Formats: sequence, structure tokens, C-alpha cells
Amino acid sequence: MLKFPMNWQRSLQSKIKLNEPLKNYTTLKIGGPARFFVEPKNEADLKLLLKQVRRYRIPYLILGAGSNILVCDKGVKSAVISLSSGFRSLKVKGRVIEAGSGLRLAKLIDYAQKYGLSGIEFLSAIPGTVGGALVMNAGCWGKSVGELVESVKVMDSFGRIRVLEKKEIKFSYRKSGLEKYIILSVAFRLTVKNKAQIKKEISVYLEARHKSQDTSFPNAGCVFKNPAGESAGRLIDLCGLKGKKQGGFSVSLRHANFILNTGGGCASDMLKLMNLIKSKVKSKFKVLLEPEIKIWQ
Ligand code: EPU
Repeated sequence: MLKFPMNWQRSLQSKIKLNEPLKNYTTLKIGGPARFFVEPKNEADLKLLLKQVRRYRIPYLILGAGSNILVCDKGVKSAVISLSSGFRSLKVKGRVIEAGSGLRLAKLIDYAQKYGLSGIEFLSAIPGTVGGALVMNAGCWGKSVGELVESVKVMDSFGRIRVLEKKEIKFSYRKSGLEKYIILSVAFRLTVKNKAQIKKEISVYLEARHKSQDTSFPNAGCVFKNPAGESAGRLIDLCGLKGKKQGGFSVSLRHANFILNTGGGCASDMLKLMNLIKSKVKSKFKVLLEPEIKIWQ
């Protein structure tokens, strides 16, 4: 049983919330509480926090926009650290934009457009944060965020800060190898383009997203990673699972790799539906689907 170290609070600038319901921080709108929830104000505060979690041997999880996680019904015993309030800086220098990891991608895209900088428009379809998108090398329309990175500023679990150059990071499909760090900020190298043209491209991406994806109910985007050369959505669709229900969850009728929270369900229903999808796809296509969403338990 983890004991709450009362002296934490005194050393930190940020307030620790106890038993904070995580459903309020996830796009799926389900899940139990975080034993400790904290939003460090800056790097120094984060460093102090890491010192305390290390001292009391408390595991921690980093929360981004909560758009890619399924929190189990019992919640999590780890300390949940959100960078969404203290790490939202934005700086432009020539063709490079440096963005804080807690910043929403939509804000970054907006900012780049104002400066006539192009390259990240395709990310308009992703409801994540800069750090969250980077750690999973998020992507769509055949592109992924790692392609634009110039360098990444990270903190390790001892509070040491490093700047990693692109060549030191091994990006691959939905992977960055950066999970062992806390991403503080990311420098993106962009290209110069006409502002009106950028705006037009953003709206094309947003429209394409509305056409192919389902945002009618709370969801976590694509639930499974695409197997090599295939679309998980297509395989699930071919299994006839569109509209399949479990508790308050339902496979989207528009895109079979989306599971919608239609209300009244719990995380275990979603897990059951995911397991059913996996076993149907396995028996029909001999393909083992791997979740893209992270399961916090
Ligand atoms: N398809 C079906 N049935 C479905 C869904 C898709 O037949 O229910 C077919 C489509 O008709 C199309 C093909 O499968 O021919 C691919 O579909 P889509 O263009 O929607 O792309 P996807 O492979 O399913 C990937 C990403 C999405 C990203 C889109 C668009 C993954 C797991 N998914 O989906 O990312 O938005 O491409 O580029 O890599 C996400 O990661 O959360 C996400 C939504």
C-alpha cells in the first residue's frame, strides 16, 4: 500500500490532488481515479517532483491530452503527472518552432500558420499534445510527427535535462523510443509557405478527418495499430463487427477501428470488446492486432 508523503506538498509549487478522477482528463470519458495527480509548473518543479517519487518509490505516468488512453475502472496507483498547464511554451526562430510538450497540437498548427510555416498541417486530425504525439510518433495520411523533428528536450527520471538531436532518436511506426524520458519541448523544422495556402490545407485535412473518422461519441481514436501493409479498421470491418456492442461501448459504424463510448459503460466493457475484436481478427485473418491505445491499470 502506497503511503502519501505529506511533506511533498511543501517542496512543490504545484498542488497534489488526491484521488483525482481521470475520466475528466481522457477523451474516452471513463476510468477511475489517480492516487496522486499533479501538474508541475515548470522544469524545477518537475525535477523536485521526480526526486520525491524516486525517494518514495512511487511509479509515475505522464498524461498528455488523454486522447490515447484507456484508464481501468479501479484507477491507477501511480502518480499521474500532467504537463498541460506548465509546459505550453511557443517560440519561433527562423523556420524552427519550439513547442512545450503540454501544448495542444491545434495551438501549434495555428501558431505555425500565423508565421507562414508549413509541414505540420496533417496533424490537424489528431487531438493530442506535442509530447503525447511525439512519444508515440503519431501520424496520419502517411506522414508522422517524427519526420519534422529537429531536436527534443527531455528530462530523465533523475531530473537531468538533455537535448536529443534527431539522429539520436529512432522513429518508426508509432514508436520513438522516448518513453524512458519526460519530453519537455520539441523543436520542429518547418518550411515557408503562403499563409492562405496553409489555412486551406488545414481545412482539407480537417474535412478528411470528419469524413473518415467518427467523433459522434467520446473515443480514443484508432484503438489498434495497423498491421504491416494493412488497415486494422478494414480487417475489423471485414469481420462484420461494425455496430458490435458491449456495455456502453460500440464499434463505430463509420470506422471499425474506433470504439465509441455511448454511455453507461465501464473500462472493462471496452476491454472485453477489444478482446472480442482481437480474437475475431485472429481467427479470420491469422493477424494479431496490437492496441495503439495505452491501457492504464
Ligand atoms: N477501411 C474500411 N473499413 C473501416 C475503416 C477503414 O474498409 O471501417 C478501409 C478504408 O476504406 C481505406 C483503408 O481501410 O481503404 C484505410 O482506412 P483509413 O484511411 O481510415 O486509414 P486507417 O489505416 O484506418 C490510419 C491511422 C489513423 C489516421 C488515418 C488517416 C492507424 C492505426 N490509423 O487509419 O490514425 O487518421 O490512417 O491517415 O495508424 C489514430 O491513430 O488514432 C488514427 C485515427
